Amino acid sequence: MSSRRSFLKFLAGSPLLAGMPIAVRALAQGDIDKAVDALDVFDFEVLAKKALPPAHWGYMATGVDGEETLKANREGFTRYQLRPRRFVDVSRLEMSMELFGARYNSPIVLCPVGSQKAFHPDGELGAARAAQAKGNLQILSTQTSYGVEEVIKARGGPIWYQLYPTSSLEVRQTLVKRAEAAGCPVLVLTVDLSGGRNMETAERFRRLDTRRCESCHEPGPNGVYARRPMFTGIDMTGVGVNAPALTWDDVKRLKDSMKMKLVIKGIETREDAELCLKYGVDGILDEVHEDLLELNAVGLDRESRGVQVESQRAHIEVFAARRQPQAVDLPADEA
Ligand SMILES: Cc1cc2nc3c(=O)[nH]c(=O)nc-3n(C[C@H](O)[C@H](O)[C@H](O)COP(=O)(O)O)c2cc1C
Repeated sequence: MSSRRSFLKFLAGSPLLAGMPIAVRALAQGDIDKAVDALDVFDFEVLAKKALPPAHWGYMATGVDGEETLKANREGFTRYQLRPRRFVDVSRLEMSMELFGARYNSPIVLCPVGSQKAFHPDGELGAARAAQAKGNLQILSTQTSYGVEEVIKARGGPIWYQLYPTSSLEVRQTLVKRAEAAGCPVLVLTVDLSGGRNMETAERFRRLDTRRCESCHEPGPNGVYARRPMFTGIDMTGVGVNAPALTWDDVKRLKDSMKMKLVIKGIETREDAELCLKYGVDGILDEVHEDLLELNAVGLDRESRGVQVESQRAHIEVFAARRQPQAVDLPADEA
């Protein structure tokens, strides 16, 4: 090899890399400086860290506490194995999928990620244009840095709206009405933050950031919402973005109050999946928010699969939102 760079490129493309220690992978990942050189999605991580201010990088990268669940989730995917069958014509692959009557070009979904302007000035509008170009489903965060109407325009078609319930029924209803009026066909209710979270990594990086942040993060009860257009005109004094007191009755009330389909994000047990059916929920977005403190990671993993099995029986839609979508396993009857 003529240079370290070409050696690392060779290494990065080699199946040998999969079995190499994390340190070697990190070395290979560290050698790019342009997005076009990325060989896999993890390479973007290196570039993002270089490009972003430390506090914004920390917000993106953080899990909770000592990152145990984040690490366990990644490791969990290494336990999935592909079981490819041969002599099947794979020259023309059909990757499209249909969800609630709409067709998308691929099963890759842009999951809700808040405050995207913290990562790029185009924020959610850029993501919408990318989703349009590739025909992907985009789910817009409650904490979006552009209004739902603008994002739908940039996407050139409907998107789903993710709702943090907020501790106020009035605020909740205002957000839901706005998303529905804008044309969102599906509401995704995120319910995994009711206990709050301890984001140590985010805090460590925030301390490294020497910029003055007040111009964007204004002080006061409404300050944090000043740059979040979904909260324009809403007084958030005394209102939290999450709802620790939320119960299944609130789910029913929400469902009855709108025409949008209701998907819940943050269900981890088969008992709760059954209750989703009982309360008229249309789908479950299967994800791990890295901050569910009450269950350990292995428990989460097993339980998540339990949800899927249960839901197959019950004909509820289940989608996966993970950072490692390449982990695929065939159902036993197709293997
Ligand atoms: C920077 C960042 C912001 C996020 N913002 C939201 C959000 O506003 N609403 C939400 O439901 N989930 C949010 N999530 C969670 C993701 O939608 C997704 O469920 C989670 O990242 C999946 O786990 P993974 O990152 O290990 O793949 C966010 C995740 C990250 C990394």
